[in-house]
Amino acid sequence: MRTHKCGELDTQQLGETVTICGWVHRRRDHGGVIFIDLRDRAGLVQVVIDPDTEAAFAAAEHVRSEYVLKISGIVRHRPGGTVNANMRSGAIEILAKEIEVLNESETPPFPIESEIEVNEELRLRYRYIDLRRVAMQEKMKVRRDVTRVLRNFLDDNEFFEIETPYLTKATPEGARDYIVPSRTHVNSFFALPQSPQLYKQILMVAGMDRYYQVVRCFRDEDLRADRQPEFTQLDIETSFMTEDQIMAIMEEMIRQLFAKVINVALPAEFPRMTYQEAMSRFGIDRPDLRIPLELVDVAEDLKDVEFKVFSGPANDPKGRVVAMRVPGAGEKLSRKDIDELTKYVGIYGAKGLAYIKVNDLAAGLEGLQSPIVKFAPAEAWASIMAKTGAQNGDLLFFGADKTSIVNEAMGALRVKLGHDLNLIEGEWQPVWVVDFPMFDWDEKSGRYNAIHHPFTAPSCSVEDLVANPGAALSRAYDLVLNGTEVGGGSIRINRPAMQQTVFGILGIGEEEAQEKFGFLLDALKYGAPPHGGLAFGLDRLVMLMTGSHSIRDVIAFPKTQSAACPLVSAPAVVSDEQLKELGIRLIKPAGKEKA
Ligand code: AMO
Ligand code: AMP
Repeated sequence: MRTHKCGELDTQQLGETVTICGWVHRRRDHGGVIFIDLRDRAGLVQVVIDPDTEAAFAAAEHVRSEYVLKISGIVRHRPGGTVNANMRSGAIEILAKEIEVLNESETPPFPIESEIEVNEELRLRYRYIDLRRVAMQEKMKVRRDVTRVLRNFLDDNEFFEIETPYLTKATPEGARDYIVPSRTHVNSFFALPQSPQLYKQILMVAGMDRYYQVVRCFRDEDLRADRQPEFTQLDIETSFMTEDQIMAIMEEMIRQLFAKVINVALPAEFPRMTYQEAMSRFGIDRPDLRIPLELVDVAEDLKDVEFKVFSGPANDPKGRVVAMRVPGAGEKLSRKDIDELTKYVGIYGAKGLAYIKVNDLAAGLEGLQSPIVKFAPAEAWASIMAKTGAQNGDLLFFGADKTSIVNEAMGALRVKLGHDLNLIEGEWQPVWVVDFPMFDWDEKSGRYNAIHHPFTAPSCSVEDLVANPGAALSRAYDLVLNGTEVGGGSIRINRPAMQQTVFGILGIGEEEAQEKFGFLLDALKYGAPPHGGLAFGLDRLVMLMTGSHSIRDVIAFPKTQSAACPLVSAPAVVSDEQLKELGIRLIKPAGKEKA
């Protein structure tokens, strides 16, 4: 239908007759002459319609925003002074000869401009309009480029792309399952995969050596800006590779990805940090290393003070007391700001947020301004000032509570202050986090949970694992970029005895293990090679690479915060007939009108 795309036209076509198709981005009526900016995926071009071309002019008089047009005309220079250097077609315009209206459009629910804020529900309801915006088209293009570069890299490195089933059995990755009723096996259900974890391990047992898949995963969990109920992983598994080799090849892939798609040179070697160090210095296992603030343990200095808020946790093996120095914040943060921050850490369970304004270090206690200074002796504060490297003008914040609360609250405060006070240093800070514990103890259920997943190998023997599960480390690794976990994986267990042991520690008895994972335990008996891999969150990578605030912006058809799709109105009720066929009867949840 067309000879060129709108946004691709430039001075090379001067004098040529061209035919273009696209949407009316803007129409301006300048008395005698009509201007139309026509838009397609490649961009915009300006079309001029002169009253002399009567039929075209008559058509142009009736077109509205988002009408679909086919226009033929001659490419010519724009008059001096009207050249737009910001667009490829900015030096030219098309003098229209013929205009055909291919389709009309109702007034769109919001303008096709990237800069304006539109309610997200509305954007998703009219996603086809939203995706016409240049910013969204660019994000989709980056996403296309990302998968292409990743596929090329993996193909070059002898990985096989292999598809695994969506209708399958539960894979434990820590979320709830989406389940699908079976018609042919009444009262039985498929689960949509939380990840292809077990299939990819079985592919290694099957001798596939290196596997990858750009694959949808389904997790029914609480949604956040970087979490969707269905999302895409770049899923990878290899045989006969150590964790160092896996991390090295993956690092190279991510470096090439950033270089090729967004022209960013990531460091030649990504730093590594143990889980222990990350928690201790940053309170979180996905530290944003661009933020130059750290938690410093000060329990030792406050163990003997009368102020129970500090001495309590300082003497509790499960407690933690930290100070965080914020350089120069004494001037920048008011009492009111600190009150707001106190409320903020309250979200994470902190019962308060003690602080000290460092006015004059040389003046001893006199130089420290804070309601808590009186609670500890001068030596304690002097030691804390030295440990944190405090300078005049700084503000120190303190967290004292159960370790988990201090880590969460002070870790979140660190990130918030880093952004609010513009402390971010450098643009890209990747880091591998390694040496995760195998398990964490869940107080509520009184048992261990797998920190990665139950198929991750420990870095110790079966005997040592059984002797002290809480102390065991795993052979897992996470790739963290600017505070976002973009990928994670591990070396897997490849022997049935070890797998049984881990199930046992997790409270999965032999019978249950057989019922749920018997197929895996069987496969491990038939010469399972040493294997390991990882999975990247593709949406998260694209989100970071496009500077988006949410993964919803880089998914063509995402779900809302409440896991619904406003475009097609899913989820939806199904007919009684369908339910009957599936052997399902609905119960109305108490307090809700709709089932
Ligand atoms: P994990 O559960 O860490 O590991 O997931 C791997 C990566 O997937 C991304 N991710 C998500 N992205 C968007 N929305 C979600 N709800 C979501 N959940 C996870 C993250 C994460 O780093 N089978 C293992 C991998 C392995 O061991 O090889 C797994 O799925 O970026
Ligand atoms: P209070 O004696 O409760 O008035 O607290 C004195 C100071 O300690 C206030 O600045 C509180 O915000 C702070 N504070 C109270 N509990 C904690 C806590 N668990 N961690 C850190 N600071 C706290």
